[in-house]
Amino acid sequence: MSEVQVTFQPSGQRVFVLPGTSLLEAAGRVGIILQTPCGGAGTCGKCLVKVISGDCNAAESCDDTLSDDLINQGYHLACQTKVMGELVVDIPEESMFESRQQILEDDLGAELEVNPVVYKKYFKLDAPTSTDDRSDETRLMDAIGEVEVSIEQLRCMPSLMRNNDWAGTAVLSGDRLLAVEQGDTSGKVYGVAFDIGTTTVVGTLFNLLTGAELAVESQMNGQIAHGDDVISRILKVREDTVALAELQRVIVGTANDIISSLCGKAKIEHDHIYEVAIAGNATMQQIFCGLNPAALGEVPFVQVFDRSLTLQANKLGLLVNVGADLFVMPQIGGFVGGDTVAGMVAARIDKWDKPVLLVDIGTNGEIVLCHDGKLLATSAAAGPAFEGARITQGMRAAAGAIEKVIINGDVEINVIGNVTPVGLCGTALIDAVAGMLRAGVLDETGRILSTDEVDSSMSSLLKDRLIERDGNVDFLLAGTVEKNPIYIYQKDVRELQLANGAIRAAVNILLRRAGVDPADLGYVLLAGAFGNFIRRSNARRIGLLPQVACGAIRFIGNAASLGAKLVLMSSNERQYADELCKRTEHIDLSLDSEFQMEFGMAMIFPDDDFDACIDE
Ligand code: FES
Repeated sequence: MSEVQVTFQPSGQRVFVLPGTSLLEAAGRVGIILQTPCGGAGTCGKCLVKVISGDCNAAESCDDTLSDDLINQGYHLACQTKVMGELVVDIPEESMFESRQQILEDDLGAELEVNPVVYKKYFKLDAPTSTDDRSDETRLMDAIGEVEVSIEQLRCMPSLMRNNDWAGTAVLSGDRLLAVEQGDTSGKVYGVAFDIGTTTVVGTLFNLLTGAELAVESQMNGQIAHGDDVISRILKVREDTVALAELQRVIVGTANDIISSLCGKAKIEHDHIYEVAIAGNATMQQIFCGLNPAALGEVPFVQVFDRSLTLQANKLGLLVNVGADLFVMPQIGGFVGGDTVAGMVAARIDKWDKPVLLVDIGTNGEIVLCHDGKLLATSAAAGPAFEGARITQGMRAAAGAIEKVIINGDVEINVIGNVTPVGLCGTALIDAVAGMLRAGVLDETGRILSTDEVDSSMSSLLKDRLIERDGNVDFLLAGTVEKNPIYIYQKDVRELQLANGAIRAAVNILLRRAGVDPADLGYVLLAGAFGNFIRRSNARRIGLLPQVACGAIRFIGNAASLGAKLVLMSSNERQYADELCKRTEHIDLSLDSEFQMEFGMAMIFPDDDFDACIDE
């Protein structure tokens, strides 16, 4: 089956997918995350898109959810509509997950609060006279209210007042004077929220007066040159006394490059940025702040701080207003850092009506459970299998990577870039293993069966893919044995079992500690880049996710990034972040006696299977 092109408007992003792929999934492939409060059941109507032209197939259930008027205008539910041929689709702003007002209003009943810490006051003072000899400072405070003024500001004040006809704009943060500016700059108050990933750094520029998002910019974390995971960077700091300063200089440099680019895009000045907020794992946050992460590299993995920090941004080298503050997310534990807390804030983790599990799957998986107001959090070292590493023909999700596998009598694949496959990424590995389990090619211990062992009713097309050699059986996923073969090797299945087992064991331990039966979980929220691309029924089939109904498993996009934006925008959100962090009990699995046994059991694939999810 050959792939067809889908173009999304207004961004113009394009993707090639197999016919039969849902529009929801196609959009997700290019990073367009739609709202799915009903989990793709076709009942909430929030994943609304408009088909401009092309061939698609909408499920009948759309008719029950959408009005005739909307249907006649070409609107479809992305979760219920399959791509059949080349398509052009318009995505309304309200359907986007990143439209924050919508997320918070629709999913959680709260409105986005624009209540920044920084604000400005324009003033016009009377000049001193023989009958009014108030000091410059008192004269200013009589106009703007009692504030804390630094000695540096007092030094500048006499000339600033007298040279500008006693008028200007005071920049305030709470009861602290950040700056006094010439003229009326009261309409220029900006802030930047950073999601500091180990690999990628994303910065978003906001107008703090209106809450409007002005520009987004991402770059590779410059620390990549010093190792591509947190452990290698921690080791570098442990081995070399000057490495911490160098790593801090590099990450601040990356942030400054992003700030410059954001200012250029939005045509604003660096000096009008008064707030910066960052969310990252504990290692990234500590290095950003110049705090030694060495203790994160040995049991019991202790972080330097857990409360949120408010620091002077320019003292760390950030190119923003000299008085600007840097807000750093609180951290729960060594490997449950500020990015997890940001995700909890964005997910409103304690506001759901049933037990809720927040899962961010990656090299380090972070898991948070909230039940009856009680919060538990842990992390599991899943290793890089989900990113395609340590998989024989594994690769990151780039051009040439198989990203989707369907096994149904034979194998269908989807390749990024619509080219000859050269490897497979983590989502395809999960699809393939789940499909192999369903087809009876793989048993629950993870052994690929030989042609003699599989059920005699299995299609010959599948049997021909079982390649026996050196006492092992490998599964031919794409190509032929002679030309461009891509295999699932027996050892690849073992790698996936290790990664899968670590996450699942961590989930099981949290559930047991909280006294929650997996069947009683109301919601499983999947956060992060990888989580938003996996097929829910396949992740569930291999045991990565608990056996809950599809509607309970929801994609929540880049929750860490959203959390950073929320705390940038509102002092109440900052308090909420600190409160959630304080309330959360950290479970350190490296010290947990149950973990090894639970891990061993979680390596075995479940023998049952649920219904397939509608949108997959
Ligand atoms: S209708 Fe709810 S996600 Fe599509």
